[in-house]
Amino acid sequence: MTKTVTVFAASGTAGQACVNELLAHPDFDVRILRRKPGQEEKSTSGLTLAIDEKQKMWDDWTQRGAEVREADVTSHAELIPTLEGTDYLVSCVPLFATESQYPLIWAAAEAGVERFVPSEFGYIYEWEQFWPTPHAHRSIARQKAFIRRVIQLAGLDYTIIPAGLWPEYYMVEPVMIPGDGNRKVSWSCGLDVGRIIPHVLAHPHSKNAICPVAATAYLSWNELLDIRGQKLGRKVERMYMNAEEFRRAHDTTEPGFLRDVLMAIGIAGAECPEGMPLWANWNATHLQDFKGTPMDELFPNIIEPTVKMMENM
Ligand SMILES: NC(=O)c1ccc[n+]([C@@H]2O[C@H](COP(=O)([O-])OP(=O)(O)OC[C@H]3O[C@@H](n4cnc5c(N)ncnc54)[C@H](OP(=O)(O)O)[C@@H]3O)[C@@H](O)[C@H]2O)c1
Repeated sequence: MTKTVTVFAASGTAGQACVNELLAHPDFDVRILRRKPGQEEKSTSGLTLAIDEKQKMWDDWTQRGAEVREADVTSHAELIPTLEGTDYLVSCVPLFATESQYPLIWAAAEAGVERFVPSEFGYIYEWEQFWPTPHAHRSIARQKAFIRRVIQLAGLDYTIIPAGLWPEYYMVEPVMIPGDGNRKVSWSCGLDVGRIIPHVLAHPHSKNAICPVAATAYLSWNELLDIRGQKLGRKVERMYMNAEEFRRAHDTTEPGFLRDVLMAIGIAGAECPEGMPLWANWNATHLQDFKGTPMDELFPNIIEPTVKMMENM
């Protein structure tokens, strides 16, 4: 029997890929939760889409069988009827809109939704929330961990999908590497994060479970940068940084994506390298047929264009 999945923040990086993969998956009927205009437009990277770009996506998805439902996503009165008939609610909200999920959780419970998939897709936040240095990313990690408890309190099932590092965001040279770069970590580009969500949900072990994926690759920083160097035909410039160096760099950088996301994540990674194996590779065991973006496509199509975009930010 098919499940009806509603995607929130569907036009974001993870959201778009998730919708496209859901539409191609035989187990799911797809709905898009469209936000009524009027909210501050947010994104993880700071780049946002214009309404006509989103309209093209909504039209395309509708043509391919998805149902787009609009609501004021801060209002339970509107959200509850909008969510009725949904089995799984997948939230792909950007980092700095994490709080926008609270009204959805209550409304989902009232609407009879079975499972809530919160917007996680990074570190194992249960771990990061307790790490000592306070910064904007740890604060969001604490909130993401809290949100899981709220989901449980609401009586909903959950699936938590940590995805490690999105490689496209960490490749500006010199590449800042936490520690010596030899430990294997999980890499999931935004496209593969979205793509893997339906497959995780379709797996029976994902109910009320934490499923930490390496959707693109499970490699050390050095291994990934060596592959990038082969593609570029030159050595990638690297900067190996310990926790103290990351903290200093963080404290002397202006607020924004570089400081509050990349350097903050670097601090957590350098402060607790022994935590990194926890990132794990759930898909290697449970989703052996899932293939992440091949390296031959990852670098030219995703990583290098993102690096260029970030260098111009
Ligand atoms: N570990 C890593 O390296 C890493 C890197 C990047 C992201 N992440 C995580 O991945 C998750 C998804 O991030 P993403 O980069 O895919 O998101 P994103 O692309 O930044 O999401 C943008 C979308 O969010 C929706 N949105 C905009 N303003 C909003 C608001 N005020 N309230 C609610 N939704 C709003 C819009 O979609 P609609 O108009 O369609 O609603 C927008 O197109 C986040 O939890 C983030 O922390 C992790």
